[in-house]
Amino acid sequence: MTSREKRGTSASLLIAQAVERLRGGNVVAFPTETVYGLGADARNEAAVKRVFEIKRRPADHPLIVHLADATQAEAWAAEIPDAARQLMARFWPGPLTLVLPARDDVPRVVTGGQDSVALRVPSHPMALALLNAFDGGLAAPSANRFGAISPTEAWHVRAAIGDQVDLVLDGGPCRYGLESTIVSLLDERPRVLRPGALPLAALREILGEEGIESGRPVASSPRVPGALPGHYAPSTPLEVHSIATLAPRAEALLAQGLRVAVLRGNRSTRGKPTLPPMPQFLLPSQPEPYGRSLYARLRELDRFAFDRLLVEAPPDTEAWWAVNDRLARAAAGSQRESRL
Ligand code: TXA
Ligand code: MG
Repeated sequence: MTSREKRGTSASLLIAQAVERLRGGNVVAFPTETVYGLGADARNEAAVKRVFEIKRRPADHPLIVHLADATQAEAWAAEIPDAARQLMARFWPGPLTLVLPARDDVPRVVTGGQDSVALRVPSHPMALALLNAFDGGLAAPSANRFGAISPTEAWHVRAAIGDQVDLVLDGGPCRYGLESTIVSLLDERPRVLRPGALPLAALREILGEEGIESGRPVASSPRVPGALPGHYAPSTPLEVHSIATLAPRAEALLAQGLRVAVLRGNRSTRGKPTLPPMPQFLLPSQPEPYGRSLYARLRELDRFAFDRLLVEAPPDTEAWWAVNDRLARAAAGSQRESRL
């Protein structure tokens, strides 16, 4: 047997083991192309409740049901409008979640008591292998504690909740590193509920310019991080600043004797205000690779225990929407947690 065949065999043994655990009502963490998920049999109420307990997630926050392919959506959605079928055909498997009217037999523990259900077919090969072998829906939120940063590598899951999960499947670092884009099809016009790994531009290619309601905040509207629900929060208090306000803010915090660090996209600093001396960390200059490494980088920076992390705001353009959304939530959440 070649080493490649051996790897294949052990992977399929692991999948078989995971399926057995899931059928027994246990919880299994698995990789997806966006972030790691904490999966349970979506038809098993006790198993789904355990997911809520492990995450310490409020019961009215619904979970996404992961499926092996689009044909399985019929077993969960009471109705699938044309727009949903087009999106499924083009983007599944992939980082797109669709919210549809739920069939009566969908356990309401999964939907947070709502009559709608969120469905997604992930593209990570290990997730697909698991879903195909399980042959049913897996309710899976991101495999982190409620409000914390989503895990993009298997060890992130092990470090945070490994002792409470029956099995963690390791599929390497996630390709996108940001959660899926969520689109609601409950109203006549499809509507983005959460920006994510699938860009809005891709949705528009299928639905047309007017075919999707984005609700993206316009650049001129004031940003009020405190008003945003804190989520995806690191433990280091984080602030997002334009390059113009970043330098004076850093000066002021340093003058208070605080340990301050800066996180910025790797763009030219020519013509920009010079920052006072302090540790600077770089992320890639483009939205997709920036998003891919953001969570892992925030997690890494938490270990330095800086008093404050100042993030240079990425461009306020549509391509950066998901990243800017997560940064604003991280800022709101970290300030709420620490009250520093
Ligand atoms: O990329 C992802 O979507 C990852 C991977 C694991 O698939 N999952 C994920 O799950 O991010 P979670 O639980 O962290 O976020 C799910 C989001 C929540 O914000 C929830 O409110 C929304 O999906 N959601 C689920 N069902 C919904 C529904 N019926 N109506 C509206 N929003 C819903
Ligand atoms: Mg989450």
